Amino acid sequence: MDEIDQATVIESRLKEAARQIHAARYLTAFTGAGISVESGIPPFRGEGGIWNRYDPSILDLAVFMRHPERSWPVIKEMFTSFLGTEDRTPVAPNAAHRVLARWEKEGRLKSLITQNIDGLHEAAGSRTLVEFHGHCRSLTCLTCGRALPLTADTTAADIPRCPCGGLLKPDFVFFGEGIPPAALADSNDVASRTDCMILVGTSGVVYPAAAVPLLAKRNGAVVIEINPGPTEYTRRMVDVFLPMKAGEAFERLDEMVLSIAESRA
Ligand code: APR
Repeated sequence: MDEIDQATVIESRLKEAARQIHAARYLTAFTGAGISVESGIPPFRGEGGIWNRYDPSILDLAVFMRHPERSWPVIKEMFTSFLGTEDRTPVAPNAAHRVLARWEKEGRLKSLITQNIDGLHEAAGSRTLVEFHGHCRSLTCLTCGRALPLTADTTAADIPRCPCGGLLKPDFVFFGEGIPPAALADSNDVASRTDCMILVGTSGVVYPAAAVPLLAKRNGAVVIEINPGPTEYTRRMVDVFLPMKAGEAFERLDEMVLSIAESRA
């Protein structure tokens, strides 16, 4: 397909996606690391992926419990590159995060389920957030259960410990750790109400998170996917595939949804 045809195909898919988004009664979004790539945060898999640089087992709960001296240095290094780009400038939400937050404020987006722990949806103003893999705002003591804010101070020690002496663990979900029960229940509820779900920047390979869009589809939702390349979902269940980066796609969709709304006003 030559470039002109490709552009024409994408334009018609954008129009269809905007029509579905405008018509939705219960529009939701399901996001992964790819939505934050344009903010300077690397994805986990694929080009420039974090798991090309670190062994994922470092975030396995059993490994962390047995060898915190191995896991913590990597967690800290990931955090600095994760939560601040290589030159340590703080990362900021991009157009995709901002449009989703504004659609929520306008009452268009009913809920946002994210696998991300980078805090960019919250920074953009999203509040109806389901944080499926937890977050990194705090630490929990594995002995006494006390919660402490995750700051440079509370993580200054090589192996951060609670005043009780217990091991402190960041409140994002490790491999082999259960999903926070409230997040699991909320995401199932959201998926059952959804009549249009936008999948953004996820490879769809990590369960049980990856099952959320499948549940929405099974309940009859129209599924729109925004990702530069095809994923586990694309051929199986996606109604409108937008082979685009998140920031550009949301800028275009926002314009188109607005013009539909204005033409109906
Ligand atoms: N815009 C949209 N999507 C993008 C962009 C972009 N600019 N850049 C990359 N992507 C896509 C990639 O093509 C890929 O499909 O984002 C996806 C990122 O996939 P992963 O790195 O696997 O991230 P994710 O699906 O969120 O991983 C799920 O795995 O390691 C665990 O807990 C971690 O929550 C994470 C989970």
